[in-house]
Amino acid sequence: MSAETTSTLIQLLYLAASVLFILGLRGLGNAATARRGVQLAEVGMLLAVIGTLMRHEIISYTWIIVGLVLGSLIGTVMAISIPMTKMPERIALSHAFGGLAVALVGISEYWHHQHVGEAMNNLQITATGFEVLFGAVTFTGSLMAFGKLQGLLPGAPMTFPGQNALNALFVVAALGLVGVVIASQDTQLAFWGLCGLGLLMGVTLVLPIGGADMPVVICLLNSYAGLAAAATGFALKNNVLIICGALDGGSGFLLGMMMSKAMNRSFSNVLFGAFGKVADSGPKKAGTASGPAPNEGSIDDAVEILGSAQKVIVIPGYGLAVSQAQHAVKDLANVLQKKGVDVKYAIHPVAGRMPGHMNVLLAEAQVPYEQLFDLDQINDEFASTDVALVVGANDVVNTAAREDPKSSIYGMPVFNVDQAKSCIVLKRSLNPGFAGIENALFVKPHTMLVLGDAKKTLLNFVQGLKEPGGH
Ligand code: TAP
Repeated sequence: MSAETTSTLIQLLYLAASVLFILGLRGLGNAATARRGVQLAEVGMLLAVIGTLMRHEIISYTWIIVGLVLGSLIGTVMAISIPMTKMPERIALSHAFGGLAVALVGISEYWHHQHVGEAMNNLQITATGFEVLFGAVTFTGSLMAFGKLQGLLPGAPMTFPGQNALNALFVVAALGLVGVVIASQDTQLAFWGLCGLGLLMGVTLVLPIGGADMPVVICLLNSYAGLAAAATGFALKNNVLIICGALDGGSGFLLGMMMSKAMNRSFSNVLFGAFGKVADSGPKKAGTASGPAPNEGSIDDAVEILGSAQKVIVIPGYGLAVSQAQHAVKDLANVLQKKGVDVKYAIHPVAGRMPGHMNVLLAEAQVPYEQLFDLDQINDEFASTDVALVVGANDVVNTAAREDPKSSIYGMPVFNVDQAKSCIVLKRSLNPGFAGIENALFVKPHTMLVLGDAKKTLLNFVQGLKEPGGH
């Protein structure tokens, strides 16, 4: 095949890959088409890899094959062994290595040009400077996020006076160094200084952010990794990298903004507000500070209420993931539906620990998509509902968000579960949720807490409904 034909074929493969990435992203916008979206993006990635392997710059495939085998092995082990509850940690690690790879590609490009004494053109050196900066920030920033989520680092924001000013100074210094590298690319000190400053900034930018906000930080780092990949595309004159880097950068940023909005926080408050400092100062008991104690009930009490319900809305939260109760909740829904009960699921945009967390778990248990409803779609229905069944959710049903202007989550949109005739809450203890605050719902007159592991409790409900008194 002539060099020209190969080059055309590569560009066609890249074009097809880019179209598939865009269609894949579109598919991910809806639970029903998400699986197809992932498959399309996978085929796109395969085409992009095939196109890259056809490039004439490759002189030996040996190390590529070694990388392919090693990477596939590590990926397979991670996919099999990491549970859904650890997905944010896994994503943080993937981003760290993505950022490292991007930074190393930039360093090797720079090193190569210095070595052969060939200057990069303005576009290449500018792109390489940003590539190394974003890659280094993403690498250490994602490692910090991983450390916080995994409990290796304190989850509380680590702050000191003048922190934001110092970070602002670092940003200015980094941009200055990029400028020096562009103006005089032989100034190796500036280049290596840029790499080191990028690594330091990843640490100083993420440490002041509370563990609670790590999913938003991961989205932002995802966006940095995308920008770094796009910069790499410019440096390497690789169109598919420019396109998918831009898609990654844009979608990560938008997702972070959407998550902040669902928590009623501004993006800047998440990044610079050190939220969680108070929250992590020690667990408080829910509903025990003042006023009435939470109303606890037994399995039998709950079964009786469920047994006479006509309409039930299930509100899953992080506890559903911890307890792996998705199949048990589906079993309960099946029993209720067989009795003619209308069962729906209310999915909060930030329920769980990552976007779509609840959707993924419920899809695994084959809960039909049509039974899943967003906050806006279902919130008015609680007033006409017999039972709001809260399964391991806490913050997303905290009525303080509506009623208590002093609450740190005041203004966050929450489900109106207190408007249902009865509200049954499944959790293990009176401990608070992610935000670390008391839950005003637990002391409401129509609320009943059934304490215990959600999966076991749900299975007891199923048994109780099938054979009354027999669980
Ligand atoms: P949380 O408020 O974190 O509450 C989860 C509850 O599950 C806890 O109160 C816990 O109580 C209970 N639980 C844990 N293990 C359980 C088990 N085995 N059985 C029964 N219950 C169990 O969860 P949520 O309501 O889903 O809210 C999510 C929080 O994460 C929000 O504050 C949100 O802002 C934050 N957040 C989410 C995201 C995304 S994208 N989802 C991103 C950033 C922040 P016990 O310990 O007493 O059992």
